[in-house]
Amino acid sequence: MSFELNNAQIRADMGRVDAELRRVLSLSRYSKPIRRVLDYLVQSPGKRLRPLLTVLSYRSVAGDADLPIAVIRLAAAIELIHMASLVHDDIIDAADTRHGHPSFHKQFSVEVAIPVGVLLYSISLKLLSDVGHLEVISRVSRAVDQLCGGELDQVLSRDQFDITVADYLLVLKKKTSALFSLSVWGGVLLAGAANEKGQDAFRFGTSLGLLFQVSDDMLDFTGRADQLLKGGNQDFILGEITLPLIVLLKRLSPADRGKALDIMATRNWDGLQWIGAQLADSGVLEECGILMRRYQVRCEAYLGTLVMTEYSAILAQVVAYISGRGG
Ligand code: FPP
Ligand code: MG
Repeated sequence: MSFELNNAQIRADMGRVDAELRRVLSLSRYSKPIRRVLDYLVQSPGKRLRPLLTVLSYRSVAGDADLPIAVIRLAAAIELIHMASLVHDDIIDAADTRHGHPSFHKQFSVEVAIPVGVLLYSISLKLLSDVGHLEVISRVSRAVDQLCGGELDQVLSRDQFDITVADYLLVLKKKTSALFSLSVWGGVLLAGAANEKGQDAFRFGTSLGLLFQVSDDMLDFTGRADQLLKGGNQDFILGEITLPLIVLLKRLSPADRGKALDIMATRNWDGLQWIGAQLADSGVLEECGILMRRYQVRCEAYLGTLVMTEYSAILAQVVAYISGRGG
């Protein structure tokens, strides 16, 4: 299932965001070799979900008005932070592929990927200073703080399988929801509606981020290669526990729980088949699906507060698209 963007206005807006990304990633002050490696990121077929949220969130409040350059810059800056985080995350996770292509450090090298991640982040800071809202900078720094904190929580707890669902969801809030909520809140702020809608928009982004990451966790177990566009069972390989396994461990008998923990600790591939069978038989995926639906309902409650326009309708489509990915 892929997300088709049919609305001409939003396509045009996203074209402007893309043009801004191309512009800042091909500045003449960079040498040709640098521009060549940055071009790999421009060409990479990411979903551009976060900038789409900023644009839709802006338009769902402001309607058909001309899109201010500040919205384009904020949307592009958030996408650059996301790109930077993925370049670094793929090194941390030793991931060979991303979006169906070699990951950035596989294509170039870790030595290139580390400074490029920082460069992307610094380009985004320049764009953000041009947005001209101190509150935006402050919120972005909080979001990046959370993004890095969530990633660190996860890396530092590799091979520790005793995390609760609540603690795990807190990690996801930091690792994934922080940028989603920033994207949605930023659109509302630039539309001049932060006082009335800012907090609700932020919460909507949080729920949407959780919906997205839980569906990502489920895809890691259930996804076909064409849905994943990256290696499956990645979390298992890294000794990172995700929601389906946390829920499964709660449900298994003490003996089976011990068996599952042993399989996970030793990365026993044959044992992974057994875990897969337990997941399928024990209703775990259904429980994860129930959680996803809870976040979906929260997202829909926010959408219900918006004036119904073609733009809020596309926001609803984004929610439906993300809801349909994992379960
Ligand atoms: C993907 O998670 C990773 C993240 C959502 C955040 C990564 C954050 C950092 C590496 C901190 C560095 C940040 C900057 C700005 C340089 P995942 O591994 O669960 O998802 P995946 O399956 O898509 O890789
Ligand atoms: Mg990863």
